[in-house]
Parts: sequence; structure tokens; C-alpha cells
Amino acid sequence: MNILAIESSCDETAVAVVADGRRVLTDQIASQVALHRLYGGVVPEIASRKHMEAIYPLAERALEEAHITRGDVDAIAVTYAPGLIGALLVGVNFAKAAALALGKPLIPVHHIRGHIAANYLAYPDLTPPFLCLVVSGGHTMLVDVADYTQMTLLGTTLDDAAGECFDKVARVLGMPYPGGAALDAAARTGDPEKYVLPRPRPGENPLDMSFSGLKTAALNVLHHAEQVGEALDVPSFCAGFSRTVADILVSRTRQALERTGRKKLAAAGGVAANSVIRAALQDLAGEMGAELYLPPLSLCGDNAAMIGAQGYYEFLSGNLADMGLNAYASRSLFGERL
Ligand code: KG4
Ligand code: ZN
Repeated sequence: MNILAIESSCDETAVAVVADGRRVLTDQIASQVALHRLYGGVVPEIASRKHMEAIYPLAERALEEAHITRGDVDAIAVTYAPGLIGALLVGVNFAKAAALALGKPLIPVHHIRGHIAANYLAYPDLTPPFLCLVVSGGHTMLVDVADYTQMTLLGTTLDDAAGECFDKVARVLGMPYPGGAALDAAARTGDPEKYVLPRPRPGENPLDMSFSGLKTAALNVLHHAEQVGEALDVPSFCAGFSRTVADILVSRTRQALERTGRKKLAAAGGVAANSVIRAALQDLAGEMGAELYLPPLSLCGDNAAMIGAQGYYEFLSGNLADMGLNAYASRSLFGERL
């Protein structure tokens, strides 16, 4: 089954064709990152307009690169939530028009379910159940994936997402948006023990996390150094910061593995590209005797192939939409039918 998949929730317009949820025939991305970098973050109005310009030619190119015709498309999958509402609406409307014109089913896909499904593309043998650590720009959570469309939230950040925290600290360090990858690169030569940052334990659920206190503490170190004219050891600061985020994530993931007894652990989302976090998860999996699934860097960030992968399983579960489909800036990932 060939699924034409559309993703436009933030600053990447993406169109892919995925066969049977596992085989990527093409994965096209038109990134707007360079444009938003001028403003230090995504400007929603500009993002919507750029999606509008990019989406049709990108879809045409996707069919060409996949060597299929419109008649070979069996269904259209689209990210309908969560994200920037104006950006999502462009993809949803395009997908509705395509489904109507081609007379094919329309499959709504939750963006975070898509991130989790990126693992099915990288690991054809991976099947639920497994535990997934989701770390994207806007979400940080531990999800028990009991089945392809049945998931339970085990723990989440109570404030900022890890990605937001990376981006904010990187921005104050003068790194270009989105700063997570630049901060990761800078950390490579640093000493992670030199700057000690807090590891907060919020709330009653031991699997919940908090990153806003860490963000404030990290920014205080930077501002203090600037005020007293002290030269900051940037690589060591970045290494210490990355190690702290990794420790917070790994300690919750360890407890989630213990609680659920799952023997498969996956990671998902842009922050799963972080080298310190990847190494820490590798250590954890070794310690716990769990099989680790880390998506390749190309599948960590936003893409449409992951939407096509999850779309296939949503289709098999009968989760379809009609022409009344809307987009939602925020929407729970768990068990909703449209
Ligand atoms: O999943 P994603 O592409 O978009 C959302 O759905 O939010 O995640 C983007 C986030 C940004 O915060 C970006 O800075 C972060 O992923 N990121 C990283 C790295 N690469 C991307 N954070 C830390 N280390 C990295 N290597
Ligand atoms: Zn994303």
C-alpha cells in the first residue's frame, strides 16, 4: 500500500511516499530553517506562507522520485496535530484536496506518533510492545507503546521540553537557531564535570521531569560569567549541560523500564540526535539488558516518511478522517479517534 504522506507542523515542508508502513520510496524535505534563523526562531506567519509555496511542487517531485503516478497512491496521510496552527492547516488542506481529487482515504496522524514510527523505518524488525523516550522541540515524554496505535503516557516534562531548553541555552551562547545540534557539536571536546547544574525532581510521579529550573540555572551561569568578565569554557559548559539533560532523561527511562518490564527501548524526536543522550541510552540499555533502537539522525528530526509509517498503522486500525478534518495546535497523543 503506497501512502503519500504530508508533514507541515513547523518549519519543514515534507512529502514522502511510504510502502506498507516500512519502505520509504521517497522522502522530500523543503527546509525553511535558514529563513527563520534570521529571527532566532520560527516566525509562524512566514512558515505558513512558505509551506503554501513549497507543498505542491514538493508533492509533484515526491511522485517523480518515487517513480509512481497519482493513480498508484492508495491513501493520503497528514500531520493534523500538534504544531503551529497556520502551518498545519496548509498540510491538512493540501491532503484533503489530494484525497478528494484522487478519491483515496485520508489518514490523520499525530506528529509525535509519527516521530515514534520513524523507528519502524529504521528497524524493519521492530514491533510493539516497546518503551519510547520522545524528545522533540516541544515534547519530552516516556511512552509505553503497547501496540501501533495504543500508547500510554508514563511520564512527561511538567514545564519546558528538553529541546526548548537546548535551544534557549544555545541562543544565549550565540549559536544559530535551532541551537541543539550546534551545542552538541561544541560539547565534544569539553569536560562535563567542570560546571555542575541541577537535576530537579518535580511532582509526585517519579517518571515526570522538569527542565525550566535547569534552563534558568544554566542561563545564570552564562550571565554571571559575563557580568564578572570571566571567560566561559564553552565546550565544558556545553558538555556539562548535555550530561545533565541526559542524566535526567536516563534516570526516568531506567525507572520506566523497571516499571513496565519492557525489553525494547526506542528513542524519537529531534533531540534523540544528541550524541551525549545517545551514548547514555546505549549504556542504559546495556545495563538493563534491553534492545536499543535509535533512529538515524536523518529520521530524528521532522520528516514526512515517519508520518507515512504511522499512517499505515492508523489505516489498519481504521483511524480515518473525512473532509471535516481540522488541524489542532495541541492534541493528546493517546487514544483519540476523530
Ligand atoms: O523533533 P523536532 O525536529 O521538531 C519538533 O517536533 O519539535 O525537534 C527539534 C529539536 C530542536 O529543539 C533542536 O534544537 C533539537 O531538536 N535538536 C538537538 C540536536 N539536533 C536537533 N538537540 C540536541 N542535540 C542535537 N544534536
Ligand atoms: Zn517533530
